[in-house]
Amino acid sequence: MSVIIQESQKVFLLQTKSNSYAFGIDDQGLVRHLYWGNRIDAVEDFEMPVLTEVSTNDPVFEITREEFPVYGSLRYKEHCLKVTFADSTREVVYDYVNYEVNKQEHYDELIINLKDRHYDLLIQLHYKVYESYDLMERFVVLQNSSGETIEVEKLHSGQFHIPYTGMNFTNVHGHWGAEQQRFVQKISYGKIVIENRRGISSHNHNPYFIIDRDATETSGDVYFGALRMSGNFSGVVEQTQYGETLVQMGLNSHDFKLDLKSGESFTSPAIICGYSSNGFGQMSHNLHSFANDFILRKGLRPVLYNSWEATGFEVTCTEQMKLARKAKEIGAELFVVDDGWFAERHGIDNGLGDWYVNEHKFPNGLEELVSEVKSLGLMFGIWVEPEMVNPKAKLYAEHPDWIYHFDTRESDTSRGQYVLDLTKDEVKQYIYNMLDNLLSDYDIDYIKWDANRPISQTNTQRDIWYRHIEAVYDIVKELKKKHPNVLFEACASGGGRIDYGILGIFDDFWTSDNTDAYDRLFIQDTYSYIYPIKAMRAWVTDCPNFLSNRIIPMKFRYHSAMMGTLGIGCNILKFTEEETALSKEMIEQYKEIREIVQEGDIYRLENSSSNDYFIYEYKKGEEGLIFVFLPQGKIGHSSVTVRLRGLSENTDYILKLEDREIKKSGGFLMNHGFDVCLTGDYASTVIKFKNA
Ligand code: GLA
Repeated sequence: MSVIIQESQKVFLLQTKSNSYAFGIDDQGLVRHLYWGNRIDAVEDFEMPVLTEVSTNDPVFEITREEFPVYGSLRYKEHCLKVTFADSTREVVYDYVNYEVNKQEHYDELIINLKDRHYDLLIQLHYKVYESYDLMERFVVLQNSSGETIEVEKLHSGQFHIPYTGMNFTNVHGHWGAEQQRFVQKISYGKIVIENRRGISSHNHNPYFIIDRDATETSGDVYFGALRMSGNFSGVVEQTQYGETLVQMGLNSHDFKLDLKSGESFTSPAIICGYSSNGFGQMSHNLHSFANDFILRKGLRPVLYNSWEATGFEVTCTEQMKLARKAKEIGAELFVVDDGWFAERHGIDNGLGDWYVNEHKFPNGLEELVSEVKSLGLMFGIWVEPEMVNPKAKLYAEHPDWIYHFDTRESDTSRGQYVLDLTKDEVKQYIYNMLDNLLSDYDIDYIKWDANRPISQTNTQRDIWYRHIEAVYDIVKELKKKHPNVLFEACASGGGRIDYGILGIFDDFWTSDNTDAYDRLFIQDTYSYIYPIKAMRAWVTDCPNFLSNRIIPMKFRYHSAMMGTLGIGCNILKFTEEETALSKEMIEQYKEIREIVQEGDIYRLENSSSNDYFIYEYKKGEEGLIFVFLPQGKIGHSSVTVRLRGLSENTDYILKLEDREIKKSGGFLMNHGFDVCLTGDYASTVIKFKNA
């Protein structure tokens, strides 16, 4: 039983395997937070503290730990909800109505119903408890039965109270080609705000919070939450004057207003949240298992070849067919034609919006390439950027009003393109039809859906920052009903759309346009904190790398990409015999280990040496892998002691090192460890192990 209710005290205790989350309703009807942390079974021990103000300048509402603070009364703290009623009243005053418990196969859901005292606005606080995953999902539903429109100006999906100060906040910073750069910041007084205002991208920050008390991979308190949305989000972290740390996350109120008409309801994006007393590793495992079991499509992901870095916009059928044959030879399973196959697409300034096959590039139609790919036994994938239109495109000439624009202003181009207004039904329908036709006309298994610019000049509606991405979700959900086997990759100039909103609707993330194998180690490490490995596309590309100009041996490039879902983006027609042979060997090896990589637990292992080793363990069932990288040896003594994690103390394991096999107990491997010595620049190895 994961929802325990103590009726007399009106206390709700949400129990997961190791954790408890408690709140209650006080005698004034306020929903007050009581506890979040290690599991406590004695529900009767929770009591509602009596509230007294600190002073007239520290009013009761400021001190009260509220689950869902609303705007109004003597509240000056961050609120989760602010509305304006039809008569201009700008304050919510709610009463507690009742609760509901809804038992499902995989979770129990508690719903707290609150109602405004004067207006017919229902506020439902939802808590879905996934007991065995040590996770919850929180979201809010607003329902307007007032007879008049209610303007929602701010809606965060929930407030969290962390009962400590002096904590650390982790998120990412970055930009195109440099996504997922982790930063850790000490939380002190004042507020930390992370947000996205661009409508489509989150290269800069990501919609999650990780708050820890000097935790490590294996120890310490970690509180975390990830928002299930890709549009404009905001998150606020604040250490209060009253000895705790607050976190909120939800829709960004920047340039936002939602008109909730009478009879309508609105569901906020959910926050998947949890607590780990065993450091960051446990946090990642809980989130990854949840994503694998409930969010991601089942099955292993194919090894992909993508022609973008090889051909750019200069796509020709003949060359694509040659690439497909070579891709097959080295062991790829899916062939993806990237940008440049359609309309007058010879560079960034034309073609988007005109989704017909370019006759010069494909004189016998696209079918010629598709049949060749299929006859090779490969899956076929294709790139699209459906939300966009170039000013030169026919689509724009026919429908100049289909883009986001203000009538009296010139619309901005970015990468030579405008953004289509997906909140218009006819635009949404056009995109759906275009993709439905493409998927119906050709035997397509994979769509790479790109979005290469932020939104601007957003028309009069201030909810587009949210509704645009909802339209993208709707289109893909509809397409999947009709074409259930097609996999969708979410790309936005690389990793601009990595979040739990799009995950599950889409199946793969294009992690970054930065394909440098060394840079990727950092990107992938940070990605793995929150997001599942199965959705992390990683390509091996040519050297010198187009972005970093670095030359890295092919083996290291493969090993780095084999930590995710492997793809190849090289000009494989230029491969030497050795490169072909090595590629075949590596792809073969990847197929043997991919189940462990894509579905196992990842452990970011400690580097105990003074050299810059990167060490990762993946483990599924009785088998495991250890990736060891040494980008550059900098001191004479270059071995590292690798200590594994997640093994059984008393089970024996066999490890296949490059030159020998060793058999050791789990206890030995986790505590004493074993030495690996790599030498030279960009050295790497993969060590397999299994139960003896
Ligand atoms: C974006 C993507 C790339 C590629 C190009 C094509 O930059 O991130 O992978 O598809 O667009 O124009």
